Amino acid sequence: MKILGIVASYRRLGNTEILVKEALMGAQEQGAEVDIIRWTDYKILPCEGDATCMFMGRGCKNEGKDDFDYLLKKMYQFDGVIFGAPCYILEVAAIVKQFIDRCFVLSSQPSQMWGKPAGIIIPYATRGWTPYAFLQPTIVLKFLGMQVVDQALIHMQAMAEASNDQRALDKARKIGVEVATAVKTGNNKYLGEPGICPVCHERIIRIFKDNESVECPTCGIRGQLSVENGKIKVHFPEEELKWGRFDKETAYRHVTYEIKPSKDYFVRTWPVIKEKRRKYKDYLKIERAQSMPDERR
Ligand SMILES: Cc1cc2nc3c(=O)[nH]c(=O)nc-3n(C[C@H](O)[C@H](O)[C@H](O)COP(=O)(O)O)c2cc1C
Repeated sequence: MKILGIVASYRRLGNTEILVKEALMGAQEQGAEVDIIRWTDYKILPCEGDATCMFMGRGCKNEGKDDFDYLLKKMYQFDGVIFGAPCYILEVAAIVKQFIDRCFVLSSQPSQMWGKPAGIIIPYATRGWTPYAFLQPTIVLKFLGMQVVDQALIHMQAMAEASNDQRALDKARKIGVEVATAVKTGNNKYLGEPGICPVCHERIIRIFKDNESVECPTCGIRGQLSVENGKIKVHFPEEELKWGRFDKETAYRHVTYEIKPSKDYFVRTWPVIKEKRRKYKDYLKIERAQSMPDERR
């Protein structure tokens, strides 16, 4: 049993690193072989958005130019993941989104993390300043097909304070134990605090324009909101739960029937678009920064 700790924080030996290491100690106690990696020590180029990875089916055009592929394949060697990222301006640090966008390549090269358990640890400093903190860690892990067994937002006031906060260390260690136990038993049941969404356990709800139905914006499942005895409730019908956007079959359908057909559309309309966009090519030249890599000039 092998468990990988991922630190998505620039700060060395900061709260994220300490808490992820504490979780790994807990996992090790359960018999796991552990390792750790800091994403911010690696180069992750942005997705350039031409989707050739999917339409041409030959991987990312930036493969070999940065470390994304290495980081992905490193994960593939493990049975479970402890994912740590600090809360930065209401959500987690930008490196996580950078990684998520590059995961588009998984539309043509399926993930090898399906069904493996993960835990999320997020240190933060200001109460009330964390509304989207779980969003990106959930997206990246679910996009990879992983099952989140527990997640914790852990309050920390000072730099590296985690090392001196037993309550915080206990929370982190518990997540390490839970991920290791899930790997051992094959039981990926969610053990964290219940949320509103029964799939991702998030508490963010989007209200549709009809002002009647709602959805979990992360999973895309729809339900009905009600207030019972002063408590807000959302009822998600059983059949909706099967259609979460990160479900394997839904993800396959999305790529096959919604995205891939746009290639034919593109090929058909390209001669007209090419002609019409010339107007915008000639209007206001955009100056390119000196620091731009040569291959993008
Ligand atoms: C740029 C930046 C933005 C931050 N934004 C928030 C925030 O919106 N909410 C919050 O609770 N904490 C915020 N924090 C505090 C960090 O989440 C907190 O200090 C955390 O423990 C840092 O983890 P680290 O030691 O691994 O870097 C921010 C810190 C930085 C540096």
